[in-house]
Amino acid sequence: MASKNLRHLLSVDQLDTELIERMFTYADAAAKNFDDKNRFHRPGGPLQGHILHRLFYKESTRTYESFGFAAEHLGMGVQGSQSVQFSSVAKGETLEDTIRVISAYLPSLIVLRSAKAGDAARAAEFASVPIVNGGDGSGEHPTQGLYDLYTAREELGRTSNLKVVMGGDLSNGRTARSFTKLLAKYPGNSFTFISPPTFEMGDDIKQMLDEKGLKYTETSELETAFKEADIVYWTRVQTERLTDEQAKFLKANPGADKKYVIGAKEIALMRKDARLMHPLPRVGEIDPAIDNDPRAIYFDQVHYGLRVRMAIIEWVLGYIE
Ligand code: NCD
Repeated sequence: MASKNLRHLLSVDQLDTELIERMFTYADAAAKNFDDKNRFHRPGGPLQGHILHRLFYKESTRTYESFGFAAEHLGMGVQGSQSVQFSSVAKGETLEDTIRVISAYLPSLIVLRSAKAGDAARAAEFASVPIVNGGDGSGEHPTQGLYDLYTAREELGRTSNLKVVMGGDLSNGRTARSFTKLLAKYPGNSFTFISPPTFEMGDDIKQMLDEKGLKYTETSELETAFKEADIVYWTRVQTERLTDEQAKFLKANPGADKKYVIGAKEIALMRKDARLMHPLPRVGEIDPAIDNDPRAIYFDQVHYGLRVRMAIIEWVLGYIE
């Protein structure tokens, strides 16, 4: 039976800025609790006995691996299945049934990556353990959004009054959606959205920004936006999730998805203290030649992700209020 009193993390909509700060304070402290052999020393003792299960219906490297590492650093057990091909899903089992079955094995939480927006919320209705949304189709990616926000806080020293440029596939890119929603919880942030036609940021996000009185513009012109930006957040075109309209557009305009590539010329437009972020994987939209530029911090972002996901696990399990 599903319990209604569980701490699921399904959407960033659930989180207020006080809770986010409590998680980030934990993440700050966690970073200091690794020794020189990368062993984590949890002040209250390891979370032995807890098991994290990763149920991944779609491809992943970072989310799958980093939740595994986060749990193991905390002293938890880790289970996972990343291949639907060899699971009962391939026989047609529903998400609801799989969630009920996994719940019956008594994990402490399930991290779910799934195909459709809303899947995580649906799973939470049937789960008797907490569900963490590890990316639901083109819906949300709250744990990535949280560490993107943490990255901004670490690298720029603030989460407010930021000029943020978001580029790439903003329609299917759930990380851009979650990050924008999170940034919108803080005052003075403004946004410039740059994407190929048909890949624009969703109307729901734009409406939310309007309602909060936060400024945003949409443009195809990179130069001014890059010069003014505190953060440039770039993303790949999610070719596995194209709508019919997008597929038609790309067919009629070959190469349109490869139009915006950030290389030496583009990063040179950015201020010295600005930062270039990307949720990864990149597939050509950032030239590896700029990886050593101090503004390019996508691999640091991954590093921050580990401690933020540790904080998320601690919160879900009730060890952070
Ligand atoms: C992202 C995702 O899965 O939404 N990857 C990730 O978790 N860092 C971005 C992507 O797949 O393009």
